[in-house]
Amino acid sequence: MKILVLNGPNLNMLGVREPHLYGSRTYADLVAFIGEKAAALGVEAEVRQTNHEGTLVDWIQESRGAFDAIVLNAAAYTHTSVAVLDALKAAQTPVAEVHLTEPKERESFRRVSYVAMAAEKTFSGRGFDSYADALAWFASKGA
Ligand code: DQA
Repeated sequence: MKILVLNGPNLNMLGVREPHLYGSRTYADLVAFIGEKAAALGVEAEVRQTNHEGTLVDWIQESRGAFDAIVLNAAAYTHTSVAVLDALKAAQTPVAEVHLTEPKERESFRRVSYVAMAAEKTFSGRGFDSYADALAWFASKGA
């Protein structure tokens, strides 16, 4: 099974940005963590990060027919991007929404998730383990 793991804006700043919320581990640590979890589950994970909404849209479109599933942390675009939602609906690749923190317990503007409107399931509030949970869920159900 091929899973595309997409990370949105500012996740490249992990380890530096708001460590009280996101922890001290870096984006490189996250990529290594996902690689280890995917290998243990016997799935193939390709991990990408962008700060640009259009790039996220391009990658979601490209997933159609090329990947079995998307694990998506759209970061701030989660709460703003109709374009990401439309791309997910167009691509029709099964998607799991992921967040390191629990957005619903933070500022009110984080309570809306456009990603959730297209996602089969949301995994949040467990730091890096949110990604592990999403990978394990796709591996167990076979995407
Ligand atoms: C986040 C939560 C979002 O609200 C925020 O904009 C992020 C990261 C998370 O992983 O907890 O950048 O997606």
